[in-house]
Amino acid sequence: MVSNLNISRRKLLTVSSVALAGLSVNQLLSKAHAQEIQKSVAFSLPMIDTVVTPDQGNPIRLNFNENALGMSPSAKQVAIDAIPKANRYAKAEMPLLNKRLGQHHSVNEDQILLTAGSSEGIRSAIAAFVKPDTQFVIPELTYGDGEHFAKIFNLKINKVPCLPDWQIDLNGIKKAVESHQGFSIVYLVNPNNPTSTVFKTNELELWVTSKPKNTIFIIDEAYAEFVNNPEFYSVDSFINKGCDNVILLKTFSKIHAMAGLRVGYVVSSPDNIKNIAQYVAGEKLNYCGVCAALTSMNDTHFLAYSKKAVDVSRNIMEQALSELGLHYLKSETNFMFHKSPIDLKQYRELMKQNFILIGRDFEPATEWCRISLGTPGEMLYVANVMRELRQKSAI
Ligand SMILES: Cc1ncc(COP(=O)(O)O)c(C=O)c1O
Repeated sequence: MVSNLNISRRKLLTVSSVALAGLSVNQLLSKAHAQEIQKSVAFSLPMIDTVVTPDQGNPIRLNFNENALGMSPSAKQVAIDAIPKANRYAKAEMPLLNKRLGQHHSVNEDQILLTAGSSEGIRSAIAAFVKPDTQFVIPELTYGDGEHFAKIFNLKINKVPCLPDWQIDLNGIKKAVESHQGFSIVYLVNPNNPTSTVFKTNELELWVTSKPKNTIFIIDEAYAEFVNNPEFYSVDSFINKGCDNVILLKTFSKIHAMAGLRVGYVVSSPDNIKNIAQYVAGEKLNYCGVCAALTSMNDTHFLAYSKKAVDVSRNIMEQALSELGLHYLKSETNFMFHKSPIDLKQYRELMKQNFILIGRDFEPATEWCRISLGTPGEMLYVANVMRELRQKSAI
């Protein structure tokens, strides 16, 4: 057991940050690979030259799918400038953000509802559709907040088994809905968490637009901006075609790197929005968060940079996982899901000894590990630690 390792063995398994700091990027990453990454972006990637040197007090945090870049510099400045005005409610600013988000999704302003992060969106969207004999249908492996809130509302949870490699079985989910007599709330996360994979939006569209009776679809697209797969598109396109059985949930916590400022929103039909609005404290949102979100929406340079940095980090991690022969799923997000080389608890502990915090257990995928993608510099450190642990036969 790793937790029982004696001190000298612990030391042996800890990759020296001093040694790492002395290495150039090209020693860690093949020169060709580094050049290829840099060529793929129009602007320079400063953090690719900086291999980080974490320590116990300042570990690399790859356990909550946060955005390690930090928020857009312009949005950050706006948030700072907003602090002296934060004795006021964001009454004037919220309609501006509403309007901007309506434009972004090509819907009317009354089709947007601001929430305190998408967690509030998940809770309030479920609350709005609780009826007698309602089942909450989810894939067996997905983001846990939906199930958490559905249980609080005493809904029957119906978990549908996944296909190989944790792919979402849309047909299975459809059958689970068809075989239920009462109302169904279907909660789907696309791309999914913790698997990082997408399902084909057109397959969902066929089902949603067939208007199955007694069914509402809550689609959580927290990570959509990171997707590269062309078979993915947002369900906002169904909503702006008039589909009223779908609720889209969005957040500023991921691509916008604003997790701590708590801004999210719901997109749906005007009637659904009115219904869901009864369950949120949405007229009173974080003042600094609202101001920053509005600026971040318009900082297209930062948003492109944020995505590209994740692409680069993913590339580094894919290379390391392939080298180590660790099976991973094709990631469309700012995190990756791979087969754990050893018992997950021990793996987590070993990484922690090297100042890297990785994901928790995700039932039922107990042999798999979720690692969020930090900055490229952080991922270079992680990749190197993993290689060294392999050399020591620890993983
Ligand atoms: C799929 C998904 N939805 C929603 C959330 C909640 O995000 P927030 O409440 O910060 O917007 C998360 C957070 O990790 C998530 O992974």
